[in-house]
Amino acid sequence: MQTITLGESGLECSRLAYGCWRVTGVINHAPIDEEHEKKSHKAITTAYEAGYTLFDLADIYSDGLVEEVFGRTLKEVSGMRENILIATKCGIRQKGNPSKESPHRYDLSREHILNSCEASLRRMEIDCIDLYQLHRPDYLMDPREIASAFEELKQAGKVREFGVSNFTVDQLNHLQAACPMKLHCNQVEISLIHRNALEDGSLDYYQSHDVTPLAWSPLAQGKLGSEYPVSMRNPKHTQEQAVRDALNLVAKEKDCSRTAVALAWLLRHPAVIVPIIGSTNPEHIRDATAALDLLLPREEWYRLMAAAGEPLP
Ligand SMILES: NC(=O)c1ccc[n+]([C@@H]2O[C@H](COP(=O)([O-])OP(=O)(O)OC[C@H]3O[C@@H](n4cnc5c(N)ncnc54)[C@H](OP(=O)(O)O)[C@@H]3O)[C@@H](O)[C@H]2O)c1
Repeated sequence: MQTITLGESGLECSRLAYGCWRVTGVINHAPIDEEHEKKSHKAITTAYEAGYTLFDLADIYSDGLVEEVFGRTLKEVSGMRENILIATKCGIRQKGNPSKESPHRYDLSREHILNSCEASLRRMEIDCIDLYQLHRPDYLMDPREIASAFEELKQAGKVREFGVSNFTVDQLNHLQAACPMKLHCNQVEISLIHRNALEDGSLDYYQSHDVTPLAWSPLAQGKLGSEYPVSMRNPKHTQEQAVRDALNLVAKEKDCSRTAVALAWLLRHPAVIVPIIGSTNPEHIRDATAALDLLLPREEWYRLMAAAGEPLP
């Protein structure tokens, strides 16, 4: 697969990332049976065999279970750890953690970052995380506190590089100003249905500051790939149908899937957006790589953009 460098980090990875959020298919840390575990391993190894070398996780995915399953898969596949980059996240704390009364909240305190990193390393049974990301901005975050946690993790060799997720450009700048190390990535929701990053100046910022945008839910949580009819309950169903129709037209012309075209639309942006593929279906995981062979001409790119939104001024 084509490769890119994450920000200015020197870390090289595949042009598409593989997102592990859905691999265990459960919300909480419920035990999974052998068959279920096998299915999770299959999704991860299919991505590896298809050339994905950036794997995105988070401590809250199935309450730690995804990191555990990922660690077990790594042990099974000889050489995989050495050939991939592991990105995980911390900072979201679920309701009921640590006590029954604790509310759902964000926590980017030094103590929580350090403890979370240790717990992720332990669950995956690895020595070092390649890219450690703050999952969501914490309203109470103090950049100096975060910087000190990052420094400690880097010096201890527990994390190679850092990034953020769901941060605004201002929040990223605010934190960057306190950090001695560069923040190389921001994970943002970007798809034909969620185009804020194209309009609020953030992609321009990432491009000029060499920050890699990682696009989460690049198919709008499956809405753009699904074969099921558009749900009429969705208030944006007309828009969704128009986007699917426009994608189908291009897909027919290019003899590829609708999904490949939706991903190619992201890949065409000069900010070098890295879509994080979230499917657990081996066929879909492999099919997504077809997007890399499609270079959408400007006219087609704009035709899709027009189908997704308001007419351009
Ligand atoms: N930073 C954050 O806050 C944040 C938030 C959300 C997600 N993420 C990251 O982004 C990754 C991707 O998110 P996502 O899973 O919502 O991505 P997505 O690609 O928008 O949605 C994936 C879903 O689409 C479905 N789908 C239906 N048709 C498909 C097709 N033809 N090809 C591929 N998928 C199809 C998949 O089902 P099948 O499995 O049946 O293919 C899966 O359920 C996550 O794994 C996670 O790493 C980060």
